[in-house]
Amino acid sequence: MNPFESLGLKHDGRTLWVLDQTQLPDAEVWLDGSEPEAMVALIKRLAVRGAPLIGVAAAACLATFAQRGAGAVEYAAACAALRAARPTAVNLMWAMDRMKNVTDPVAEAQAIFEEDVRLCEGMALHGAALIQDGEGILTHCNTGGLATAGIGTALGVIRRAHEQGKRIHVYADETRPLLQGGRLTAWELKRLGIPATLITDSMAALLLRDGRIQRVLVGSDRVAANGDFANKVGTYGVAVQARFHGVPFHPVAPFSTVDLACPDGAAIPIEERNPEEVRGFGTIRWAPDGMPAWNPSFDVTPVDLVTSLILDRGVYTAQALKAGALLRA
Ligand code: MRU
Repeated sequence: MNPFESLGLKHDGRTLWVLDQTQLPDAEVWLDGSEPEAMVALIKRLAVRGAPLIGVAAAACLATFAQRGAGAVEYAAACAALRAARPTAVNLMWAMDRMKNVTDPVAEAQAIFEEDVRLCEGMALHGAALIQDGEGILTHCNTGGLATAGIGTALGVIRRAHEQGKRIHVYADETRPLLQGGRLTAWELKRLGIPATLITDSMAALLLRDGRIQRVLVGSDRVAANGDFANKVGTYGVAVQARFHGVPFHPVAPFSTVDLACPDGAAIPIEERNPEEVRGFGTIRWAPDGMPAWNPSFDVTPVDLVTSLILDRGVYTAQALKAGALLRA
């Protein structure tokens, strides 16, 4: 492959490297993700994460595997294993379906990487146009350079608005249970010098009530044909709160996150993760031994709570989405 580099993924022509996001912000450790077995494990334990990035990473892994001489049977098995590594983010299935029968996996993986960078630019262009000077913006989970090959989805919009000189202030939900907001979004916002405040998920309602948030921007792991969408658990609660307080709420996604085969949110498979992630974090445990815990990694927000969906190719109101705009996009 031609060497490439993004915030969380890089290729030196021979080896594919993944920034271990579980160690951020304390340490920046790059791990070898060239072998499919290793990449499946990295995706499952969220060392590499974010819907678009896992698709790009899995494609680059397959290309490297092919480059190293994998046979057709091994290649097909690796493609299937990577495709099944996480169930909700449809970008992974989308990328693996593209890689499945190609004659030149290296060129295809390169194209997927470059396309994701361009899609981020499209979302940023359309999204930043909506942002007004002086807005407080709430976001959930991590949707930036760590979650894509480019500048991000929701965080890419925020970054572009900041670069345009708009005086915005970001409120970042810490995002229980794995703290992608507290660890990763906070890390990215600091690096970019964007004014921001970290809050626990339970504080967002107060900020909305007090008029300190004028807009909510979140990412998505899968958008159904009617505009319902899945995103990191907690997004649905934020959407309910935003609606109650009359604050515009926008999912931001590339077309590779749209799944027209899902008619609505009820058809989106939701990943359930190890309950240990709810009983503690890292080496710390706060729940009593054996305490039952529930850990859905995503929730579904109905299109009725969406103001508009910001796609790479334009902005779609909830009304347009409900009238089938995605089927014609
Ligand atoms: O479990 P994660 O950390 O992969 O979840 C990520 C999200 O929920 C993001 O909001 C989503 O992937 C879209 S943004 C690129």
